Amino acid sequence: MSDFEQNRAFWDSHSDEYQETHRQHIGRPELRWGLWQLPESDLRILGEVSGKDVLELGCGAAQWSILLAGLGARPVGVDNSARQLEHAREALAAAGLDFPLIHAPAESVPLPDASFDVVFADHGANRFADPYAWVPEAARLLRPGGLLAFSGSTPFEVMCWNEPADRMDAELHLDYFGLHRIEESDGPVQFELPYGEWIRRFRANGFEIEELREIQPPPGAESTYRTAEETEWARRWPMEQIWMVRKGR
Ligand SMILES: C[S@@+](CC[C@H](N)C(=O)[O-])C[C@H]1O[C@@H](n2cnc3c(N)ncnc32)[C@H](O)[C@@H]1O
Repeated sequence: MSDFEQNRAFWDSHSDEYQETHRQHIGRPELRWGLWQLPESDLRILGEVSGKDVLELGCGAAQWSILLAGLGARPVGVDNSARQLEHAREALAAAGLDFPLIHAPAESVPLPDASFDVVFADHGANRFADPYAWVPEAARLLRPGGLLAFSGSTPFEVMCWNEPADRMDAELHLDYFGLHRIEESDGPVQFELPYGEWIRRFRANGFEIEELREIQPPPGAESTYRTAEETEWARRWPMEQIWMVRKGR
């Protein structure tokens, strides 16, 4: 089975449980990012979205895109999982909204070149698709000057995950050099790159780097994705990061 098929099967079979577990955490009425759902109004990653064409890669149940539509953006959601998109369709109907939801991999989106002002993901397809395939696709879909922003894991998080013990460690369990494709015994295939390689991928696809935001959970931060011990770990080492890169004009 290819990585693409394995991840599609994983998300189709885990979608209901995922939505049930995280519904309250990610379903709040304002834009929020990542593991600890930190407000966009504090982080200011996407900025003003009104009137912009915005593509969400790995939209899940479209919680983000629905809020973006309410702020005057023209969102399009792409996801590889039919079941996740069923949840998204139900959520759009409940919100009285109608925008495109596309069942496709982020590595190959059936839309024309230069269709979007913003391409983004919040622990979306960027974690589960090969950056050597999805970063060029994001570059193709963005207009000159367009923003690519995505949150995800970090090399630290991936290297310090002690899979047999099912916990974060202060020890490294994987090599940094060559970091790329990570497969756990019962999970989806995930991807992470060394920092130098991310920078080469961006520049090779015509992006200028604006910022790498390394997230340190603030006091009182809560998560349905991470335990209290893991949140403590993330106060010492970056567990989550947000890249902001801009396509050249
Ligand atoms: C962790 S969920 C996050 C979804 C949403 N951002 C949220 O916060 O709930 C990751 C999503 O990425 C989707 N995904 C995984 N691989 C993908 C790919 N190659 N192309 C498009 N979507 C993908 C999954 O189906 C899933 O809906």
